[in-house]
Amino acid sequence: MDCRPIGIFDSGLGGLTTVRELQRLLPSEQIVYFGDTGRVPYGTRSRETIRKYARQDIRFLLSHQVKMIIIACNTVAAALAGDTDFLPVPFAEALTPAVHAAVRATRNGIIGLIGTKATVQSGAYERTLRELDPSLQILPAACPLFVPLVENGYTSPDNPVTRLVAEEYLAEIRARNADTLILGCTHYPIIQPLLQSLMGSHVTLIDSGQEAARSARDRLFQLELQAPPGSAGGCRYFVSDSASEFQESAEAILGHPISGTARQIDIEEFPDRI
Ligand code: DGL
Repeated sequence: MDCRPIGIFDSGLGGLTTVRELQRLLPSEQIVYFGDTGRVPYGTRSRETIRKYARQDIRFLLSHQVKMIIIACNTVAAALAGDTDFLPVPFAEALTPAVHAAVRATRNGIIGLIGTKATVQSGAYERTLRELDPSLQILPAACPLFVPLVENGYTSPDNPVTRLVAEEYLAEIRARNADTLILGCTHYPIIQPLLQSLMGSHVTLIDSGQEAARSARDRLFQLELQAPPGSAGGCRYFVSDSASEFQESAEAILGHPISGTARQIDIEEFPDRI
């Protein structure tokens, strides 16, 4: 048993899809969330920049004495590409569990993969999928406009702008009959109703934010690091840009008011050395 908080980070709002699921699975846990809203998006940046940002985000979370870190960002997981020995605490991430869930879900072996430009170009998803099943047909599509749309609140299932953009991005995956679609960016589950309506109800959507939370829960139990039963759980939110704007969007995504207030911090104060 361990009362210390779990640290979760993402470039912005996306990691809240992990927070949402973790709070449902483990309501007794304390969480510290960091959304790097001052530097979002990560997915259009170079691998080196993404790795630098990730190390600073991790340094910030470590300053809160976290017992575990959840990399609720596929772009960071892809940029680290397994290079995680520098992490001084156990961790979970979004990419590998999403791959496992997709392989379990597919029946026809045709898997669509949508993610940021950096994630798709890294090839990390394809490599990990093929390691599990070399016979899979994988259809990757980078969707760079989704993150700014989500960050700006264009998330309603009938938003005409987001729908048009999604139709364009998903056209080939739909035409080639994928029966499973990996939402390989934690921002995308926020527009899941729209994506599901375009793909059709016969296609299984894999929520990488949710899978990261499930994988963290398993790891926590395996290491016996869970909070004592009956402990009061909660989440403190930190961002690198306007806290009030984040708070409003966060409450809409989480579906409940957040206790206390989100706080803005200066992420540049945290070194990129661990
Ligand atoms: N939500 C993140 C991911 O899972 C990052 C999106 C971005 O900042 O481009 O990839």
